[in-house]
Amino acid sequence: MRLKSRYIVTGLLLLTLWAFSCRRDKKDPPVNGTSAYIQALPAYFPPYERSTVNPLTNEGVALGRMLYYDTLLSSGGPMAGRSCSSCHLQEKGFAMPGMAVLPHINLAWNRHFLWKGDVEGTMEDILRFEVDEFFASDMERLKSNPQYPALYKSAFGSGDITREKTAFALAQFMRTLVSVDSRYDKYLKNEIVLTDKEMRGYGIFFSEKGDCYHCHGSPLFSDNAYHNIGLVQKSANDMGRYRLTGNSSDVGKFKTPTLRNVALRNVYMHDGRFKTLKDVINHYDHGVQHGEYLDPLLDKPALGLTDTEIDELIAFLHTLTDSTFINNPQFSRP
Ligand code: HEC
Ligand code: HEC
Repeated sequence: MRLKSRYIVTGLLLLTLWAFSCRRDKKDPPVNGTSAYIQALPAYFPPYERSTVNPLTNEGVALGRMLYYDTLLSSGGPMAGRSCSSCHLQEKGFAMPGMAVLPHINLAWNRHFLWKGDVEGTMEDILRFEVDEFFASDMERLKSNPQYPALYKSAFGSGDITREKTAFALAQFMRTLVSVDSRYDKYLKNEIVLTDKEMRGYGIFFSEKGDCYHCHGSPLFSDNAYHNIGLVQKSANDMGRYRLTGNSSDVGKFKTPTLRNVALRNVYMHDGRFKTLKDVINHYDHGVQHGEYLDPLLDKPALGLTDTEIDELIAFLHTLTDSTFINNPQFSRP
């Protein structure tokens, strides 16, 4: 009897502690009066490495979103009058028609940035590059704005406006840009079934027949690596990553872009050479240039897909369009 009540007391104590710790999690801000940003991901997504130096907070994400859409971030030079959103359009999956823009989709999992991997590392690293080099942002413009000092203060505890904090806020916003609700995702979550045509395309994509999944595997549809896929060389730029490293093993290699929302883009590859998904599939089907630098995965005879199979593969690629993502009000112009 005494033993039993002891258990009950211990149980109650643990329960109270648990309840208290949960509440503490919610109440206790991660840094300087901020509140944690809660990000829910489907179970079939791998976790990504959370930043300890720049944890996601509602205030940081909100500031990053403001900056992303603001032309104040650009100074003079070629980017004058631009905002990030002027080339990275939400309705196009944060890419842009007519330009070989890499989309901002699920980059939280990414370690290699830009087509040639000019920047490798964390989201903070690429955003430092964007702020410092690509935009050469002028902090004075933000400092003299009536809104920003207060926003920096609520996000980072002090109203000092620095390049580092600017990059950090943008990095936080970019980590929230997750696409996890396409028709393909809904299929994985057992919410819908795909059509027979889409399923046949799925079969080609994920089997040796099309063999796309080795580099564009699910759920990210990018292997986070560089490959030479045997494109016809048209200019010195087509030497790809080799131009950065000088290693012959990097000749013609570019980063594998995600195929999520790929049907929203209308130019494909690092130079935008293909205008339709059919052009792209024709390349993989019978256009691959064989040579010593070609990726071993593509060093094989033509795929020989029929027109029907090509249509099915395209139908599958369309299931990766995520209308929740492109319409999410949390990602839109604030
Ligand atoms: C003038 C159009 C333009 C503007 C403005 C622009 N970008 Fe881009 N962005 C591109 C293009 C084109 C690429 C691919 C370039 C490359 O890889 O060499 C790219 C690539 C990126 C990438 C790499 C994505 C990946 O998958 O590796 C990031 C991150 C990025 N941009 C962030 C930004 C941010 C943040 C801003 C605002 C500060 C911005 N961009 C403004 C055109 C633009
Ligand atoms: C060996 C790895 C590899 C395989 C296999 C592969 N891809 Fe790719 N894919 C890439 C790389 C790398 C790029 C970017 C190449 C470039 O820009 O030069 C790319 C680009 C693409 C693009 C253009 C995306 C964009 O935004 O520009 C599409 C679409 C695509 N692949 C679809 C497929 C399909 C469909 C298959 C199967 C038939 C396939 N890929 C097989 C690595 C691969």
